[in-house]
Amino acid sequence: MMMNKPASLSAKPHYTHVVIQQLAEQLEAGFENPERLTASCLLRLQDAQEVHFLTIEYDAQGLYLSADEKPDTDAVIEMPLEVACKIVRDSTHLDYRDPDIIGAMKMMGNLNIVNHIAKALVRPPEITAATFEDASNKFRKAYEVTQILYLDNPDEMKILRTISAKQPFIIRNAPTKTHHTQWNLAKLKRDYKDVMLRVRSATERETVGEFVDRISQVEQCATTIIEGHTKAYTEGCQLPEAMQGAFLPQYFSSIDFTPAQIWLGSVPVNVPASSLHRDPLDGFLYQILGRKKVLMFAPDQAKYLYPMKTYNNYQPCWVKPEELDLDTYPLFAKARPLEVILEPGEILVQPAGWFHAVYCLDSPTFSVSYFLNRAVGVEY
Ligand SMILES: [Fe+2]
Repeated sequence: MMMNKPASLSAKPHYTHVVIQQLAEQLEAGFENPERLTASCLLRLQDAQEVHFLTIEYDAQGLYLSADEKPDTDAVIEMPLEVACKIVRDSTHLDYRDPDIIGAMKMMGNLNIVNHIAKALVRPPEITAATFEDASNKFRKAYEVTQILYLDNPDEMKILRTISAKQPFIIRNAPTKTHHTQWNLAKLKRDYKDVMLRVRSATERETVGEFVDRISQVEQCATTIIEGHTKAYTEGCQLPEAMQGAFLPQYFSSIDFTPAQIWLGSVPVNVPASSLHRDPLDGFLYQILGRKKVLMFAPDQAKYLYPMKTYNNYQPCWVKPEELDLDTYPLFAKARPLEVILEPGEILVQPAGWFHAVYCLDSPTFSVSYFLNRAVGVEY
């Protein structure tokens, strides 16, 4: 990867310049461009006194960085210096959906480019990288499955043993407080109208009632969805506390799970609701409204899926199963998918390290997901 060091940075050991230099080094070390794209982006960083610049350009040959303000870039990112510090300091736990980050950033132009650059700045925590390494390289009987296993209201020990064998499965007839057939958009609005759903910044906040109204109006014609910028999908923001009693499982205890995420909205069938990735914890996906198609690949398929070298809380892949491009990703032809249709009322359980891409077959769609904490589990 080629890089022109931002000019004049070493000559001015000013705090702001150190942050920009660190950002530049982090980008240089993490940037990948398998599709050989050509693009440019201007990063504008505001500190107390002045605005500083980092121009990022890339093409099939490499990445080029400079401290100049280049005009007419394809994208522009503006952020206060504190946010840039947070990105550099917290690269292993960064969540761009965090209101302190997304609410303080301004992005203009081509958001795909912003997304591409943002991905190069995160880093995996050691334990996450080790979990994936272990899951990918160990031979497991469960990786040969060609059909999903269904378990009818299994007990907790059966759930833990199946997860420990690295076997994905679907739970049917799980005990829930309110039967899934009783839920629809009208009931969600009635029961949780004033509950705060998403807080993106001091001025951008939305209640469940307002969000449900927006889903009802949304057009189904969008052809692209960029992570973090979808208009009518909650994209896994945290499940509000007021909703937890109704939608959390009756298995284990709530402290055994990470905070639940909510996936509510309307997503066109032809784009992934979640693009291909894998998570470092054992995941549960409880489907309540609409059906979802989940394309899964066992951890030992990693070598065919082009996983990104930079990631933090989950590992995305470069290859897009819904847009087959064997010229760019020839090894994907060898990957063996396990496809499941998740019906309302079912819970899909995926052991850590299994790759998955999720597509919504119906609109509206509503699911809740959560992960088992690391400490929970049995050795099999
Ligand atoms: Fe996931």
